[in-house]
Amino acid sequence: MNDQKNVGATTIPHSRPTLGVEESEAVSEVIRSGHIAEGDIVRRFEGALADRVGIEYAAATNSGTSALHLALLAMEVGPGDEVIIPSYVCSALLNAVTYTGAAAVPAEIEPDTFNLDAADVHRRVNRRTAAIIVPHLFGLAADLDPLLDLGVPVVEDCAQAIGANYHRRPVGSFGQAAAFSFYATKMITTAEGGMVTARTGGIDKRIRDLKTYDQREDYEVRYNYKMTEIQAAMGIVQLGRLDSIIRRRKRIASTYNRAFRELNLKLPVEADGHIFFRYVIGLEMDASPWIQALTQMGVGCARPVHRPLHHHLNLADYPVTDEVWSRSLSIPIYPTLTNTEVSRVIDAVTACHNRFK
Ligand SMILES: Cc1ncc(COP(=O)(O)O)c(C=O)c1O
Repeated sequence: MNDQKNVGATTIPHSRPTLGVEESEAVSEVIRSGHIAEGDIVRRFEGALADRVGIEYAAATNSGTSALHLALLAMEVGPGDEVIIPSYVCSALLNAVTYTGAAAVPAEIEPDTFNLDAADVHRRVNRRTAAIIVPHLFGLAADLDPLLDLGVPVVEDCAQAIGANYHRRPVGSFGQAAAFSFYATKMITTAEGGMVTARTGGIDKRIRDLKTYDQREDYEVRYNYKMTEIQAAMGIVQLGRLDSIIRRRKRIASTYNRAFRELNLKLPVEADGHIFFRYVIGLEMDASPWIQALTQMGVGCARPVHRPLHHHLNLADYPVTDEVWSRSLSIPIYPTLTNTEVSRVIDAVTACHNRFK
């Protein structure tokens, strides 16, 4: 096809939230009620998320980053400790670890799944290792068993993976704690927001203690990380949409898989529990020319991770991460992508493939 044909057409954004009148009505109702700060609706959202994950404890926060921070603090991570995180992930993890005073130790990923490489993590564990943060990147559950077997406390990072399964069980129920994000472009959204699920009441209690800073008899540094009723009202509606959101994402992923099968591209691994937060293509070359060309054709796309964390830390010797970073490209996949838009994305990717092969 002529890859110039979509120039001038509306650009298809790389991400777009799935919102409807139900969210507007729920938010308006909270505003009309006059009770907008954390209260009963937040409690209801926590309960609904805990039920969905199949775990007893869930505490709402104002972001995924604050959820990670509180999870680490509740596990008593602090100065002198090390926390292993992947290098191939957003800088929120590096921030959360650094807030605690611990040192972040980046590890390599598996090139096919984009998730932590357990063998590389194993090499980096020492007596100072206090925790491992395990993201389920792009909606695919990490292989948790070998990581849990290391005997180091695990915080699952479910920011991109609410609704994904590992061994047919929801992610967020395997580690000592798990963090969720409801940022605008995540699987479900409250604009900004987060949640920590925990396996023990002790961790949950400590998290609630750390974010309840007002009217306390004792003083210690506490954090205003609370979610509002407005966000929670939105979150409850969004959680109700999660199954249909996942169904539509899977359907688009199957369409892409069929369309791209014959091309010389590395496609996402096929796994039952994958919910396709992102559809990430592996290229035979660096992604920059593709990004430029697709953008020109009106298809929003991006490197799925902006910059590997080892570069921020001035560390070298992460060859897998560097290679994956260079060749990976994320294309639009979200429920409000119309069939026409899906076809436009397919045409544009095919045109790029023919241009650059
Ligand atoms: C894997 C992962 N963890 C944590 C976060 C942080 O979430 P938030 O933006 O809600 O602070 C993000 C969001 O970008 C993420 O992708």
